[in-house]
Order: sequence, then structure tokens, then C-alpha cells
Amino acid sequence: MRFPAGFQWGVSTASVQIEGGASADGKGESIWDRFARQGKIKGGPDAVNVTCDHYGRWAEDVELLAGLGVDVYRFSVSWPRIFPEGAGQVNHKGLDFYRRLIAALHEKGIQPAVTLYHWDLPQALQEKGGWLARDTAHRFAEYSATLFKDLGRDVPLWMTLNEPFIVVFSGHLTGEHAPGLRKPFSAMQVAHHLLLGHGEAVKAFRQIAPTGARIGLTNFLWDHQSASASSGDRAAALRADGMISRWFLDPVLKGHYPEDIMTWYRSRFAAPKIQDGDMEVISQPIDFMGVQYYSRIIHRANPWNLFTGFGQVEPHSVPTTDMGWEIYPEGLYKLLLRLHKEYGDIPLIVTEGGAAFADTVTPDGRVHDTDRVQYLREHIRAVGKALDAGVNVQGYYVWSFLDNLEWHHGVSKRFGLVYVDFDTLKRTLKDSAYWYRDFIRSGASLNPAGSVS
Ligand code: FCB
Repeated sequence: MRFPAGFQWGVSTASVQIEGGASADGKGESIWDRFARQGKIKGGPDAVNVTCDHYGRWAEDVELLAGLGVDVYRFSVSWPRIFPEGAGQVNHKGLDFYRRLIAALHEKGIQPAVTLYHWDLPQALQEKGGWLARDTAHRFAEYSATLFKDLGRDVPLWMTLNEPFIVVFSGHLTGEHAPGLRKPFSAMQVAHHLLLGHGEAVKAFRQIAPTGARIGLTNFLWDHQSASASSGDRAAALRADGMISRWFLDPVLKGHYPEDIMTWYRSRFAAPKIQDGDMEVISQPIDFMGVQYYSRIIHRANPWNLFTGFGQVEPHSVPTTDMGWEIYPEGLYKLLLRLHKEYGDIPLIVTEGGAAFADTVTPDGRVHDTDRVQYLREHIRAVGKALDAGVNVQGYYVWSFLDNLEWHHGVSKRFGLVYVDFDTLKRTLKDSAYWYRDFIRSGASLNPAGSVS
């Protein structure tokens, strides 16, 4: 199995999860800072205030990235670092931080890939309604345009939104994520505003960005399967896939919401209000779709869940990660093939994939995370299989570069190639980091037995 020349190997992070410096250099409050202060994150406010202190240690982190030999480093910009009040006055110190980071990456020959919204809305905008307010989409486009103008020449790849599905369901339905709301009747309005913000940002990008720079978004794309062959369970799985995947893919790539799901939401008074022209904005052509795959979910009918009508079967007697997510590489292969079949030849980049395990440092200072090496190898192999089947996949970015703040779980879930001691903030390369480095160095060839050749 050989990956084509130009296939990009990367690692991903996000601002809230690694930066810390929650109020450094004029940064405004984000909804995650507020959420932590409300006691809704394991580890409390300190977890967010410090996490990996990448804000203070970025230069050391760039050295580590260079050592890994990755082609691409995907990170997100913190909106409240740039606009502490969400809009209006730019905080130049915030911009300088990302300028320095991007320059240092280029010096090492690493391409920066920037996510504009990885979930840290300025709290000031939340107070004006957050994503429930249509105006937030316009503010997002303004913030994005500021970055395109300022950093555009040096960033070849942009992502508008990270996984809008999670913002909608975890942030506005279950309330597990900031801003912690439970609003079934307006959650799909949030989805619509996010997608509108995406479309407006893409429009701005086409006017501002240099030719050759590319833009897309990333989506939460897992494999959805039915618990049984019964028609009820099969309908549940189809609906789950519709609500979780198609609801966010179809508007962008086909110009309309999926009709089966729209009908379902209409019957529950949960359909979004759409203004004339919105769908044209949302379906601006994009340059690639970011695929974020971790696992599969098995669904069954559950009439007690009035909003979705489905429930999840917890995985048992199958290998899982420390998140309780089943390890299922085959799902990534199936997903890539399916995207190719349903959405045509849109270039795909696996912008996230990885696994949490309860890693420990041995007395000799090593982290023997063989389970993570195995996970990555099998998932990369699945990507190779999809390439062989003719799917246009252009990159694979491991989640994550560093152990970090896994949202409401605090720092208790370790996804990194690099181990972080959250008391001393010392970084230690795990075996998976050495494996990934050697794999990239070797020209990314996996022999059939699965060892690096
Ligand atoms: C994804 C998120 C990312 C990280 C991984 C584990 O849904 O985009 O920030 O939390 O899951």
C-alpha cells in the first residue's frame, strides 16, 4: 500500500483545548471560560485557564511538530483573542500570537491549516443570543474576513466550522457543552445560522484570499448502523445518519436540507426558519470536506426520545478506547466510499482521527501506547484502501498532537501523540509519536503485516 505523492500527514488541535492564557494579552471571555467557571468542566476553571499552556509554550511545541516531521499542523484561532467583544475593536496582540506561530511553522516547512470556529464563541456574543441569533452568522463572517486579510497570504488551508453537529446537539440540546442550553425547538435554527455563517465566510474568502488558498469545513462523520434488521431499527439508523451527517453535508454540497429529516423536524415544530437566498449562500462551492471519524454508532428505535426517536446501543465485548468508543477502522473505509458515491468528487481530508487511552509514563520516561499505534495504523490502512478504490482523499491529520482538554471531561482523556504532565506541563513523546514520525519518514508505506517498512 502506497500513498500518493502530495498526500498530507498532519496533526490537529484546537484553541480551547491547548492554549490556556484565558485572559492573557487582552483576550476576551469565551463561552468555554464561562462554562468552566460555572463548574461544568471536570477540573474546574483552571483546566481551561492553563490546559497545555500552548499560549506560553508555542515555540517549544513548534519544535516538537518539526521533530514529528508532519506536513501540516491544523489548529484553531480563538475568536475572543481577536475580537474580545465578538466584533468591533481588533485585539492586535491576539493576532500577533497567530502571526508568530504561522511564521515559525513556515520556517520549519510545516503548512498551517486554520480552523476559524472550534467552538469558542465570545461570551459577549452569547449574551446577544449566540448562535440562536442570525446576527452571529454576520459577525462570524466579519471575524473570518479579518483573518483572511491579515493571515491570508500565509495560510494555504482554512476550515470555517469544526463539527457544527456537536455545537448544535451538545451545546444546544443535551447541554453537555458550552453554552449548556437545552432548546429542542430552536436547535435547528442554531444549525442554520452556523451554516449561514460558513457560507458568508466562504463568500468573503473568495474576494480576499490569494488564488490557490483553499477553504472547507469539517464534519462529525461516524458510521451509523442499525441494531437489527427490524424496520423500526433501520428507520432509526437512517434518521440518525440524517440528523447527524446529512443535515450538515447536504445544504453545503447539494444546496438543500435532507427532505426526510426536514419533514421529521417540521412535525416536531423544530424546523429552522430559512430566508430567501440563504441556501445559495450556504452552498457556495468549497474546495474540500473535512472528515472527522472516530467510531461507529449502533442505533435502535426509541420512541421515548421524542426529539430523535432513536437511541444508542452501548458497545460491549468489542475493543473500545478510553472514551468508550468502539475501535472500528472498517467504518472509515465505508464512510469515505459513501461520501465519494453520494457527493461526487469533492476532495476529502481526514481532518481528525485518533484515540484516547489511559497512558502512563514508565520510570525510564517512555509512554508505550501500542494500542494507539495500532489504532492509527489500522485507520490509515482504511484510508489507503479507500484511495485504492478511487476516492479522492488528500490527507490524514491525527487527533491530537498533544494530550489536551477534552471539553467537559477536562484533561482526563489523553488523545495526544505527545504526553502532557498537567502538573509540570512537561511534554514527552509517546511511542505513537515515534511511530508516526518514522512512518512519515519512510514515505508512508505500510506493509501488509502492518509494520513500518
Ligand atoms: C472531536 C472534536 C475534537 C476532539 C475530538 C476527540 O469531536 O472536534 O475537538 O474533542 O472529538
